[in-house]
Amino acid sequence: MNRRYRKTIIAGNWKMNKTPTEARALAETLKTRVARCKWCEVVLCVPFTDIVSLTRATKDCRISVGAQNLHQEESGAYTGEVSGKMLKDAGVKYVIIGHSERRQYAGESNELVARKVKAALTAGLRAIVCVGETLKERDMGVTNEVVALQVRSAFDSIPTTDELKKIVFAYEPVWAIGTGRNATPEQAAEVCTYIRTLIRKKYGARAARAVTIQYGGSMNADNARELLAQLDVDGGLIGGASLDPDSFAAIVQAANQ
Ligand code: 13P
Repeated sequence: MNRRYRKTIIAGNWKMNKTPTEARALAETLKTRVARCKWCEVVLCVPFTDIVSLTRATKDCRISVGAQNLHQEESGAYTGEVSGKMLKDAGVKYVIIGHSERRQYAGESNELVARKVKAALTAGLRAIVCVGETLKERDMGVTNEVVALQVRSAFDSIPTTDELKKIVFAYEPVWAIGTGRNATPEQAAEVCTYIRTLIRKKYGARAARAVTIQYGGSMNADNARELLAQLDVDGGLIGGASLDPDSFAAIVQAANQ
C-alpha cells in the first residue's frame, strides 16, 4: 500500500453466494466491525439479486456496493442481461469486469472485457478489471506476457487519464483463486509492480502512481497484512473470506493499519 498516492480498497467478491436476506444480515454485522476503518474503502461485489437489499442496508455507512458483471450494451433485446445504467440507478458504484471465472465459464475474451470496461465508464461506474495467469502459463514463464495482453486490451477502452481514475486493476493469479494457495507477497508484488509499469508507459508516472492495484486469490485474515505490506499491492479482492463478516473485517482491519 502507498496511501500517500492512492486509495486502499478492500473488496469482497461474493460470487454466487448469499440470498438478499443473508446479504442484509451480513451487512449489519460487518457495519459494526468496520465502522472505525477510515483508511480504506470497503466494497461488497454481490449477485444482482442482492444489490437492492444491500444498498438499503449500507445507506448509513461507508460500505460501497459493487456488481460482478454487466452487459456491454446499454439496453436492448438481451434476455437475462443487466446493463451499467441499471446498476448505476440501483446504487452500484463498482463493477468487477473480466474475472477469471467469467473468462473461463462464460468465454469472455480480452476484447469483450474491453467493451465492458467502456460500458461501465459510460454508465458512470468504476471498474475493477481482473487480470492474471493460469498455473500452466506461470510454469511456462509467460506470466508477464499474459498479464500485459489483458491489461493493454483494457487500455483500449480507457482513452485518457480522467477515465483511468475510475479504474482499479486486480491481479488474480488463477491458480490462487479458491485453492487456499495464495501468491507469496513477493509474487503478488512483482506482478502488481509490472502492471503499474504498463500503466506508466501508457499514461505517465503521475497517473500511474494514483491507480489502485489489488491482489486477489486466497487472501485471508492470516496473510492479508503481509500481502498489503507490499508497496504496489493497494488492496484485495476477496472471495471465500468475504463470506464471513469476521474474516472479512479482519482483512479490512489489516488494510487500515
Ligand atoms: P478466493 O479469495 O476465494 O480465492 O477468491 C478470489 C477471487 O476470485 C476474488 O475475485
